[in-house]
Amino acid sequence: MNNISQTKKNEIIVYIIIRQKDICYKIRHVLKKTADEKKMITLKTAKDLPAKFNNDTYIITENNRAFILEISKITPKINVKLFVYIDNIHELDEQDIIFLIKHNIDRIINSKNIKDLKYEKFVDAKIFKKKHHNTFIDKASTLLDDLCHNNDDIAEADGVNIYGISNHIKTVIKKAHRVAQGGSNILITGESGTGKELIAKLIHNQSKRNANPMVSINCGAFPEGLLESELFGYKKGAFTGAFTDKLGRFDLADKSTIFLDEIGDMSLSLQVKLLRVIQEREIEPIGSLKIKKIDVRIVSATNKNLEDMISRNLFREDFYYRINVIPIHLPPLRERRTDIIVLIYYFMKKFEDFQDNKVYGISEDAFNILLNYDWNGNVRELENLMEMLVVLNESGLITIEDIPEKYFNNKRIETAKTVTENLEILLNKGDAINLKNNMEKIEMNIINRAIKISGGVKGKAAKMLGLNRTTLIEKLKRYGKHRNK
Ligand SMILES: Nc1ncnc2c1ncn2[C@@H]1O[C@H](COP(=O)(O)OP(=O)(O)OP(=O)(O)O)[C@@H](O)[C@H]1O
Ligand SMILES: [Mg+2]
Repeated sequence: MNNISQTKKNEIIVYIIIRQKDICYKIRHVLKKTADEKKMITLKTAKDLPAKFNNDTYIITENNRAFILEISKITPKINVKLFVYIDNIHELDEQDIIFLIKHNIDRIINSKNIKDLKYEKFVDAKIFKKKHHNTFIDKASTLLDDLCHNNDDIAEADGVNIYGISNHIKTVIKKAHRVAQGGSNILITGESGTGKELIAKLIHNQSKRNANPMVSINCGAFPEGLLESELFGYKKGAFTGAFTDKLGRFDLADKSTIFLDEIGDMSLSLQVKLLRVIQEREIEPIGSLKIKKIDVRIVSATNKNLEDMISRNLFREDFYYRINVIPIHLPPLRERRTDIIVLIYYFMKKFEDFQDNKVYGISEDAFNILLNYDWNGNVRELENLMEMLVVLNESGLITIEDIPEKYFNNKRIETAKTVTENLEILLNKGDAINLKNNMEKIEMNIINRAIKISGGVKGKAAKMLGLNRTTLIEKLKRYGKHRNK
C-alpha cells in the first residue's frame, strides 16, 4: 500500500463513523499502517463531526441513512476529500478493508489535483467482496513489483521503457547495449508491434550520437518520388512545386541516427541511391550539383522477410548486406509468454496514471485468457487492450467479463499460476533450479562419501571416484566451504 503518511500525513484526518466496534477496530488497524494514528478519529455518530475542518478530511462510514444525511449536510461546507459509505459493512474482512482503503484512499492521496477533488463513493461490501477477493492479484503484483525494481535487464534507459523478462528480450536488450556505441548499420526485424522502433530508440539513446535526436522516416508512407525528396531534400526549382530549398532527413540526421522504418517498402531504384549514401557517406539533394558529406548511422527495420524478397527480386541483395551489418530480431510475443505477464502489469500501471479510477489487479482467469492468446498484433495489441480495460474499468479489478470475446481461445498453454511460480524462481527465491549450484552440491556429497569410506586417504578416495589425486585435491580446495558445513 502506498504510504498515506509519506507526504501528507499531517494534513489528513480520517473520520470513521461506524457503529460496529470490531469493524472500526479493523479499519483503524489497517489505516494505522499508513496514517498517523492521532489523525484517525472514531465517532459514534455523524452529529459529532466538527462543523469546520482545516485539514483534508476523509470520512468512512456505513450506509446508515441518518449518518449520510448528517454528513451530506456539512460536506459542502468543509474540505472533505473523500466520503465512502459502505453497505453490508459486516461482510468486510481485513483483506477487503485493505483493498478498500487502497482503492479509495490512496488514489486520492496520490491524485495530482488533490485540491479539486471532492469525492463521494458508495460501496456495497457484498459485491465488493465478491469482486475483489483474489489472493492471486496481490501475489502476482508483489512479485512483479519486485521484479521491475530489482532487475537490471529491464531497460529503462533514457526515456525508453522496455519491459520483459524472457531470455529472448534480455538477449535483444543486451545486444542493443553492445552495438549502441559503434557506428555499424543495424537491421531490426520482427512482426508488427514487437518493439522494433523502441529498440532503435534504445540504441540511439545509448550511443555517442544521442546529443541530437534520432530522425525517423516510414519508408512505406511515401510514394517513391516523395520519399526520395524527403530523404535527400531538394533545391528550389528542382521540380514543379519546389518553391524553396528543403533539407532532407539525412541532412537532419547528420551526427545522429536515421531510422528507416518499413525498409522493405523501399523501391529498388531508391535502394540503389541509398547504396551510394551508405558507401560514400554523402548525399546529393535533388536539383543540386553539390554533394554533401554526412555522418549518419543507419538503423533500419522491417516486418517483411527480406531474404525471401531478394529471391523474388523485390529487394536488392547488395543493399540488404549493407543495411544488415548487425541483425537484431525481435521474436513475437507468443514466443515469449513470460513477457506478457510483465507487460500486463506495466501497461496497467501506465494507463492507470491517467485515470481517476485505480485498477489494482486482474483476476486469475482473466490473466489466463490473456496469457494464452496468440497476440498477432504483439505488444501493441496488448498495450491497446490494456488501455481499454483500464479506462473502462469501474470496479478496480479487471475480470473475465471485461475481456472482449475474440481473446478467448481454447488452447491452454500456461496458467497464471505456473507463470507466477516461474517468476518466483526467476527472482531467485529459486536456488532450486540453479544447475551449477546443484551439481556442485551433488559432487560434494559423493566426494565426502568417498573420503569417509577411504578413511580420509585422498589417494584411495580419488581412485574410488575415478579422479586423479590432484583433481580431487583441487575440488576439495574449491568446495572447502561446503565440506566444512
Ligand atoms: N518490451 C516492451 N516494453 C514496453 N513497451 C513495449 C515493448 N515492446 C513494444 N512496446 C510498445 O508497443 C508498441 C509497439 O512498439 P513499436 O512501435 O516499437 O513496434 P514495431 O515493431 O516498430 O511495430 P510496427 O512494425 O507495427 O511498426 C509501442 O507503443 C511500444 O512502446
Ligand atoms: Mg515501427
